[in-house]
Amino acid sequence: MNVSIKAEMNVQTQPQAIQVRNLVINPPLLLAPMAGLTHSALRRIMIGFGGVGLLSTEMLSVKSLPTENPRVSPYLIRTERESPLSYQLLTSTYTQIGRAIDALHALKADAVDLNMGCPSTAVGKFGAGVVLMDRPDEARRIVAEARKRTALPLSAKIRLGSDAGSGKLKTFCSMLEGEGVDMLAVHARFRHEPFARNPRWAHIAEIKECIKIPVIANGGVFSVEDAEECLRVSGADGLMLGRGAVIRPWLFSEIAGTVYGVDVPKRVVSLPDIYTAFIEALNADYRPIYRLGRLKAFTHYFARNYQFGHSLASRVQSSSSMDEARERAGTFFANTKE
Ligand SMILES: Cc1cc2nc3c(=O)[nH]c(=O)nc-3n(C[C@H](O)[C@H](O)[C@H](O)COP(=O)(O)O)c2cc1C
Repeated sequence: MNVSIKAEMNVQTQPQAIQVRNLVINPPLLLAPMAGLTHSALRRIMIGFGGVGLLSTEMLSVKSLPTENPRVSPYLIRTERESPLSYQLLTSTYTQIGRAIDALHALKADAVDLNMGCPSTAVGKFGAGVVLMDRPDEARRIVAEARKRTALPLSAKIRLGSDAGSGKLKTFCSMLEGEGVDMLAVHARFRHEPFARNPRWAHIAEIKECIKIPVIANGGVFSVEDAEECLRVSGADGLMLGRGAVIRPWLFSEIAGTVYGVDVPKRVVSLPDIYTAFIEALNADYRPIYRLGRLKAFTHYFARNYQFGHSLASRVQSSSSMDEARERAGTFFANTKE
């Protein structure tokens, strides 16, 4: 299969840029932070297709961030082309946010995001991620401290909270806005809901009613049709794409063209070429110990472009070196009709 991106220009639609402080997000299509995935190598593949309004890192622990070496840290490696780039911070307390934000200023971050949506038990054990939605006083202190320490655009990424209908969600969102959050990304699932559960885009419309800052809808957008439906149901100001853009790194470009009328340049690239470009970026810029895990994480999603993709994924998954993974993937591509 060749990936041919030529967006249909829709004269009805116009790019509806979001302005957050000095940052213009145009089109309003954001990359979701994803651990092990949204690092420089994959970001570069995505921007090669165009259509991304704001890139993101994965979540970065406020404790270790200030000690990371940006030239070799797989979390912080970044090329100039990867712009604008938002850095997501993970913290359970306001006390460590100042040093982390100083580090982000030194890294020339374009925006700062606060993780208040990660449902992982490991993260929750420390009182971080979505657990902060049940610790609103600490969440308030975190936002207030972050706001005090930076003039950069400040966003938060949340889920729908623990339960429906209690009014807690709206109160929480209003608190975030009141403390100085400039933009809110909402993963439209409750705290414990797995990916198998359909996202609840309509709940985002309720959040939009109670705050004025831009609200970005996230969760379950895998196609242009999903994007249109999500925007219609949620009334959100923009979309955040996660797994869909890992499976199909050209998804931003398709949505930008069709939904927002952006004139994206035509590019024809084969799936094996995308895969090879990703491997080459890993090999060029990451220390050997950081490569194979990231290739496996990407392959888990990218393999879904093939009918028998599980075979590609399992071959790469059981590889013990980059060379072995590359060779096995090459054999799969050579024997698979596109
Ligand atoms: C492998 C993986 C890692 C993730 N890591 C993060 C993260 O670091 N920070 C975060 O806020 N959300 C994280 N998420 C959640 C995504 O940002 C996003 O909210 C979720 O995948 C739903 O969007 P999607 O359906 O477009 O993938 C992660 C999701 C996945 C699948």
